[in-house]
Amino acid sequence: SAAYSSDVDAFLSCLSADIPPALIYTPANNYSSVLLSSVRNLRYVMPGTTGPLVIVAATEPAHVQTTVVCGRRHSVHVRTRSGGHDYEGLSYASVDPHRRHFAVLDLAALRAIHIDGSRAEAWVGSGATLGELYYAAAAANRTFGFPAGNCPTVGVGGHLSGGGFGALSPKYGLSADNVLDAVVVDAEGRLLNRSTMGEDLFWAIRGGGGESFGVVVSWKVRLVPVTETVTVFSIRRRRNESAVDLITKWQAIAPALPRDLYLRVLVRNQQADFVALFLGRCGILVDTMRRHFRDLGMAERDCQEMSWVKSTVFFYYGTADLPAEVLLNRSSNPYYYLKVKSDHVQEAMPRHAWEIIWSKWLDKPEAALLQLDPYGGQMGSISPSATPFPHRNYLYQFQIYSVWFDSRNGTAAVLEKQRVMMSWVRGLYNDLTPYVSKNPRAVYVNYRDLDLGTNELDEGGNVTSYAKARVWGEKYFKDNFERLAAVKSKVDPHDFFRNEQSIPPLPAAA
Ligand code: FDA
Repeated sequence: SAAYSSDVDAFLSCLSADIPPALIYTPANNYSSVLLSSVRNLRYVMPGTTGPLVIVAATEPAHVQTTVVCGRRHSVHVRTRSGGHDYEGLSYASVDPHRRHFAVLDLAALRAIHIDGSRAEAWVGSGATLGELYYAAAAANRTFGFPAGNCPTVGVGGHLSGGGFGALSPKYGLSADNVLDAVVVDAEGRLLNRSTMGEDLFWAIRGGGGESFGVVVSWKVRLVPVTETVTVFSIRRRRNESAVDLITKWQAIAPALPRDLYLRVLVRNQQADFVALFLGRCGILVDTMRRHFRDLGMAERDCQEMSWVKSTVFFYYGTADLPAEVLLNRSSNPYYYLKVKSDHVQEAMPRHAWEIIWSKWLDKPEAALLQLDPYGGQMGSISPSATPFPHRNYLYQFQIYSVWFDSRNGTAAVLEKQRVMMSWVRGLYNDLTPYVSKNPRAVYVNYRDLDLGTNELDEGGNVTSYAKARVWGEKYFKDNFERLAAVKSKVDPHDFFRNEQSIPPLPAAA
């Protein structure tokens, strides 16, 4: 409509008062290369999804402030993108035709990292990747590490604000558990730090998903001690060897291992890979494995000793024969489609359940990768209300991770393949129901899943419905959902920062 486009023009001219034109991209000036620069899921650049009206590629915090102020003034909502790894593309796309009116604030250029070696702390821009943070920490001191995800191109901004789980989590918890301070632009366009934002907002952005509360520009984090030499292994067992028995046992063993040892399982087709990080040398690891998990048959020949930073290369690339500099490569191949569903397991699943998963599901050509990540250790020592991330007391996290490639032109064929891939993921998820978390099913917000439900606006209002949002919100946040909504009412009562799964303001009567 005319009103619609004049809003956008007014928004653009408001931006241009403070932001250089070279940093403002619209479809008319060919924004697609910027848009695609950090897209990780091609489902969200397909017909039927909507991209932004405008992309602002901020290079300083003032650009963020201006974008928020202009957006408020001219009713253009803002979605923040740091690394673009959102499983459901919410940082750059919308599946809801009623939410077309948004701009993307791309923080990729706000990625400075300052290490304070004497205090073992760092200030990190949200646009930095995990790989850049790992590399910088280790370059400052080989015994500095940081607990965060296993994929080096994930963005600091989304990852830390949603939690951040990885190989150091059994020892040091989530990334969010190691955040000391943050700089945030709020819905009024103010630049706040921990002392000026207050503890409620500081609590909310450490696991509640930043997108509902403001734009986190940078983070102060605690770097954690790692040994100069760590040991990794990856042991493959096939289904017709002992994989089913081993996984059944792994479920109780892995969360109870010493905190220096993280042991995950990747299951695909006919095999299971047991992949470990140990903060220490091979000899002690072999002993530890014998004591806790003799049946796996781990021996000295399985050990690979290396620096911690090289172990982050190993965890992503499956080999440590690459230089640590690969962590600085920001452009991973974006040409894939992705659907992930996840859950948490509280009581070990019986052996026959694993037999069924294998015989009914993993034989199929469209089978996904199953990623089983142990909790326990520090994860279980932190109170479920200390941060918005409530899932502290499970044995392990269960991800059904489907990635596929499709180079065909022609939307119909691509959509048909997508349907087959996604229905496999959803089918297995349904079959897992008796064995996984219940009332509500527990999901980690960084493994975003729009199947859980999407927001609607309140009748006649212009604010996200609390009642509708509880359906998905309590799965991500359990009892912390209400507190998140209360924080939202305080810091963004008009619901400026919103998407399909943003936290709504708490209604006055609730
Ligand atoms: P992106 O930019 O897409 O943002 C994600 C969400 O956060 C969006 O809603 C966005 O608006 C919001 N947001 C981003 N930056 C913000 C900011 N500065 N301020 C406020 N809001 C902001 N997770 C994990 O715990 N462990 C793991 O090992 C992995 N591994 C992994 C591998 C791969 C290939 C993918 C695609 C994803 C993962 N993840 C993961 C999940 C990952 O942690 C999750 O997708 C993060 O939100 C990604 O953060 P980005 O900044 O990259 O995403």
